[in-house]
Amino acid sequence: MADLTGKVALITGASRGQGAAEARLFVERGARVVVADVLDDDAATLVADLGTDRALAVHLDVSDPDQWAAALASAQRAFGQVDVLVNNAGIYFQAPIEETPVDRYRRLIEVNQVGVFLGMQTLAPYMAEIGGGSIVNIVSVSSFAPLDLTAAYASTKSALLALSKAAVGELGPHGIRVNMIHPGGVATEMGAPGGVVPTAYDEAPLRRIGQPREIATVAAFLASDDSSYCSGAEILVDGGWTVGTRNPWRDA
Ligand SMILES: NC(=O)c1ccc[n+]([C@@H]2O[C@H](COP(=O)([O-])OP(=O)(O)OC[C@H]3O[C@@H](n4cnc5c(N)ncnc54)[C@H](O)[C@@H]3O)[C@@H](O)[C@H]2O)c1
Repeated sequence: MADLTGKVALITGASRGQGAAEARLFVERGARVVVADVLDDDAATLVADLGTDRALAVHLDVSDPDQWAAALASAQRAFGQVDVLVNNAGIYFQAPIEETPVDRYRRLIEVNQVGVFLGMQTLAPYMAEIGGGSIVNIVSVSSFAPLDLTAAYASTKSALLALSKAAVGELGPHGIRVNMIHPGGVATEMGAPGGVVPTAYDEAPLRRIGQPREIATVAAFLASDDSSYCSGAEILVDGGWTVGTRNPWRDA
């Protein structure tokens, strides 16, 4: 079990879904967390639950460089350090290419791709100064196995994959590890809107959708010193979805 005692983690998009599960688990494992999100009320509720000595809510739109600088300053004021960054915030959109408004696509790029770039640009120099850190980027199986109707979303995740890999060599000499998680379907507002789980998961190798805590446990491992020699790792957390293709001849 990954021990996070003494760590301070800034988690983006932590008000709900996977980010909230990561915040909860990280606190259980001994960390203090910065719950950074645009959903201020949800962030405040979560922080009240986790305890204000262990958690801090910060308003952060990841696409805004000034808000990143302010978030780091708030985290330092509250907890004295930040040694883990989980770039989890993301938005989703699906539609045929010809029905995808370009402004919608541009916002996906701003949040899913530029947002992570800004996070690393803001935190990396600071982490280098304190002797290192761990960056965990929540990418997606969409980055390498995109579903149809997801051209806009999947292409931002593909860019995020390249961005994460480019950072590995650049930040490694400063003691900063950069690792990636590729979730498959996860039961959050994004993966199962309104709590509705598509029946296609009944055919998946594990026959179910994933739960947010099942991503959080992997994020905790990558944040912890248990993964001290991991940088550039890509961990598939998709219940076998992208590998376990059903043999079409099985029941033929
Ligand atoms: N749920 C899935 O099936 C799935 C699969 C693969 C990858 N992912 C990725 O996992 C991550 C977490 O998604 P989730 O499933 O928890 O979805 P979610 O919609 O439940 O949570 C996303 C969080 O990001 C926040 N957010 C959105 N825009 C933001 C911005 N500009 N600045 C800061 N925060 C912002 C939202 O307010 C929300 O709290 C995302 O990066 C997503 O792309 C999800």
